[in-house]
Amino acid sequence: MRHLSKRYGSVQALAEVDFELRPGEVMALLGENGAGKSTLVKVISGLVQPDSGAIEVDGKATDLFPSARSQAAGVAVVHQEYSSVPTMTVAENLVLGQAGVSAFWWPGSLNARARKLLATVGLDHVDPRTEVDRLSVAEKQLLEIARLLVRDARILIFDEPTAALADREIERVLAVIKRLAAEGRSVIYVTHRLPEVFRIADRVTVFRNGRSLPAKPTSELDVDAVITMMLGRDLETMFPARGTLGGEPLLQVEGLLADGLSEAVSFTVRPGEIVGLTGQLGSGASNVVMALAGMLPPEAGRVLLAGAEISLRSRAATLERGIAYCSADRKRDGIFAERPIRENLSSPWIRSVAPGGFISTRQERDKAVAIAARFAIDVKRMGSAVGTLSGGNQQKVAVGKWLGADPKVMLLEEPTRGVDIGARAEIYQRLRDLCAAGLGIIVSSSDTAEVLGLSDTIATFYRGRLTTMRPQAEWTEDALVREVMHQEAAA
Ligand SMILES: Nc1ncnc2c1ncn2[C@@H]1O[C@H](COP(=O)(O)OP(=O)(O)OP(=O)(O)O)[C@@H](O)[C@H]1O
Ligand SMILES: [Mg+2]
Repeated sequence: MRHLSKRYGSVQALAEVDFELRPGEVMALLGENGAGKSTLVKVISGLVQPDSGAIEVDGKATDLFPSARSQAAGVAVVHQEYSSVPTMTVAENLVLGQAGVSAFWWPGSLNARARKLLATVGLDHVDPRTEVDRLSVAEKQLLEIARLLVRDARILIFDEPTAALADREIERVLAVIKRLAAEGRSVIYVTHRLPEVFRIADRVTVFRNGRSLPAKPTSELDVDAVITMMLGRDLETMFPARGTLGGEPLLQVEGLLADGLSEAVSFTVRPGEIVGLTGQLGSGASNVVMALAGMLPPEAGRVLLAGAEISLRSRAATLERGIAYCSADRKRDGIFAERPIRENLSSPWIRSVAPGGFISTRQERDKAVAIAARFAIDVKRMGSAVGTLSGGNQQKVAVGKWLGADPKVMLLEEPTRGVDIGARAEIYQRLRDLCAAGLGIIVSSSDTAEVLGLSDTIATFYRGRLTTMRPQAEWTEDALVREVMHQEAAA
């Protein structure tokens, strides 16, 4: 691709980009949120028509727009935002809109063939007749990858395929990608998780503000070099220093049982403490968070906030008591995609800028702008719909809006999914600032490095049970990974 440009209104998403992909290579595409990665992916997959520039496939000038052309040229994509149709079954989804596939599928064999495909991405436990709606975000992502495997494509694109996945699932996805490349296919791999880059990519292309830097072989780079290329500066610390914890418990969870938990869960959170919950897909870690948020009615147990029992009956009830909750599924309950960024950011704390019931638009704007600036969300776009932001920037809005509220307890699921390294460090710092003000924070995350770096106390979950809870200092990465996988420690 040569001198490729694409503009959205006032935003230059791609500016004179040069990009080259060789047969059989895995090319990592890196860059800060909004740098243009997904836009390039959309151009290659024929969803977006570039304003200018030239594209060649096998040395011949080729038009990849619209997507039928791109598919004919052998391109297949797993997009950043999952595209499965929720009300259809898993098996139906695997064949949906897949040119040249449906003719060979008929109901008798459909489920059986779907089962085989699901197994290759580690979804053996999923019944092909399940409605896609009922899958978790991670399962939906794996389903997208299975969809891609149905197609016989020669250019495969993965736009942050592992953002929603835990270690074991990531292993599986990386193995699948390695196999595809070994078969001679070319792979473009977009991610914010740098360790993955060094495990599978042959070369790296970094995007900065819509421009591409010349590709470099991974063997000539290390993590620090890549970060500097991405940010244009060094990153000093990823995780801020821990503070002191209060003595009295802030939140006491006693014998909590809810859907997805097979054993009652008890633990406490002190003021200033970040408790990290981690486990594989379906481990129960996120069920605890959802129950505490009032999203899953508890079947047993009680929860005390500053010594007084609180109701987990509904989200409204917990919100009333000062419990902020940032969901893992931002598309479902994190953002209002059609609404402006400013409104999204102010939704949790709008009352605080409406003395006497009248919203002070000026105060609202000032506060929203301050949050946006902190997370490098373009403050000139406060009036634009959140849906027009890049994936990582949407996530920053979903997390950032709570940071302007004045909660007592903050619950977060996968808070930095898809967020670039610079903004991630900002989010961690902000959470520590809240701790210093006496907040208690519970983070459920499948990112081992995040759990270790951020938490004061870490609890592991396995099949609906809290298995071990210890201060962070008593964990090593190895011990944590083993505990999460429920394996014996090496002798
Ligand atoms: N439909 C759209 N309307 C307006 N602006 C858009 C639209 N799609 C993308 N953009 C803008 O184009 C720029 C590049 O976005 P893109 O999605 O390519 O970023 P990205 O590198 O994939 O980021 P991330 O890491 O957050 O996924 C961003 O400023 C984004 O807001
Ligand atoms: Mg993107």
